[in-house]
Formats: sequence, C-alpha cells, structure tokens
Amino acid sequence: MEKMPYQPDMDRPMTTTAVKQTRTTTVSTDWRQNLPVLGGTKVTLRELELTDAPSLFAMLTPEEVSRFISPPPTTVEGFEKFILWARAERAAGRYACFAVVPNGMTTAIGLFQIRQLEPGFATAEWGFAIGAQFWGTGVFVDGGHMVVDFAVEVLGVRRLEARAAVANGRGNGALRKLGAVQEGVLRRSFLKNGQHLDQMLWSILAEEWRQAKATWGRGLIH
Ligand SMILES: CC(C)(COP(=O)(O)OP(=O)(O)OC[C@H]1O[C@@H](n2cnc3c(N)ncnc32)[C@H](O)[C@@H]1OP(=O)(O)O)[C@@H](O)C(=O)NCCC(=O)NCCS
Repeated sequence: MEKMPYQPDMDRPMTTTAVKQTRTTTVSTDWRQNLPVLGGTKVTLRELELTDAPSLFAMLTPEEVSRFISPPPTTVEGFEKFILWARAERAAGRYACFAVVPNGMTTAIGLFQIRQLEPGFATAEWGFAIGAQFWGTGVFVDGGHMVVDFAVEVLGVRRLEARAAVANGRGNGALRKLGAVQEGVLRRSFLKNGQHLDQMLWSILAEEWRQAKATWGRGLIH
C-alpha cells in the first residue's frame, strides 16, 4: 500500500485478455468484471471480499507493517470501505487489488495493488503489504511474481514502478529480489508521520520481464 493515493485516472477501453500464468492455468477473463484467481506454489491471489476486512485489519495495522506505507484504515469498517472502493476502481478499469491467501487458508494476510499512472496502464505503480508473521516465508516472491506477470500480460503494463522509503530495508530488498531495477532517489517524496522521507524509485520493464521468463521460465527472480 505504498503511495497509493487512490485517485482514479481515465478509463481504458474494455477488452478480453488471455494469459498463461507462469505457475498455474491459463487465465481468460475480463479483469474489470472480476479479478482472476491466480494460484502459486505458496499462495492464491484473488479478488478482495468484504469478509477479508477483519484479517486485513489484524495483519496490516501493526506498526512494523504500516511504518513505511500510506496509513491503512484504522478499523475493520475502514477496511470494508477500502474493499468496496477497490472493487469499484477495478470495475472502472483503473486499479487492481489482489488479496493474498496462503495455501491451506481462506483469509487474506496481505495485499498486492496496481494502479495506472496513465490511461491504459502502460505505466503503472504497484505496492504490497503482508502480515509480519509471513515475512521471509516466500509468500511475497510467489505472489509478487504472479502480480508482475498479470500486470505485464493482462493489464498491458510496459513499465511497472514501485516506490519504497529508503529506510524500508525489507521493501527495497523484496523489490530487488523480484528483479526490479533501482533508478534513483525521490528526495523527500513521502510524507509519513509529519516527516518527508526519501524514497527509492524502482522499475520493471515488460521486455525485461518477458526475456527473463523465456530464459529462466519464471521472471526476473534472483
Ligand atoms: C515488503 C514485504 C511485502 C516483503 O515481504 P517479505 O516476506 O518481508 O520479503 P522477503 O523476505 O521475501 O524479501 C525481503 C528481502 O529483504 C532483505 N532485507 C531485510 N531487511 C533488509 C535491510 N534492512 N536491508 C536490505 N535488505 C533487507 C531480506 O533479507 C530479504 O532478502 P533475502 O530473502 O535474500 O534474505 C513485507 O516485508 C511487508 O509487508 N512489509 C511492510 C509493508 C511494506 O513495507 N511494503 C512495501 C512498500 S514498497
């Protein structure tokens, strides 16, 4: 949920897209009607449901999770409103937010979100947050791989940006692991608790992602 100001851009035309997800089955869907269910080795990614609100509240509001991201809602009801907002933005074709559900569980323990930075998603930004007990378990890499693939192959993203506070060791480490390229520092770009923090700007380009997939069979993961 890094730097997601929740401001919609313009719609892109409706199309139906098919993509071979790396780890599971062929997805054929209009993602604006409903996000596809993406199955990985450790997690399933799916549309947010209102019933995810209590577990997302428990997972994402502790200080260790929220300290470097835009403030999450502070109540279960706030998460319910966010979920309704996310689904409406998805239906409008401006944004997609996947719930992260570890295999064997039914509740969401985190989020991956992507928003367009220009109409049509050619340039987009993603962000993510996962409950602390799932850090270092491979959940991020498994889910992140599927989200980048979805962004490139379904949304048509050409350049996928991410911003992480320079002090956010895990956030920057996670992006590096997924093959994102560090482009520079956005000075004093992120207001958090009354302080303007520097952020790293990272990017993944579609052509690099596809090239790495062709070579290694699974994206740019190191
Ligand atoms: C960001 C997040 C989703 C990553 O998930 P994760 O499970 O912690 O990620 P991973 O453990 O797979 O990868 C993190 C990497 O950063 C490394 N790392 C940890 N602290 C670090 C530090 N201070 N400096 C550099 N690297 C660091 C880890 O060692 C790990 O690499 P390794 O697997 O090679 O050892 C999770 O930490 C999170 O939800 N954080 C809170 C929300 C947030 O900050 N979101 C990111 C906004 S950009």
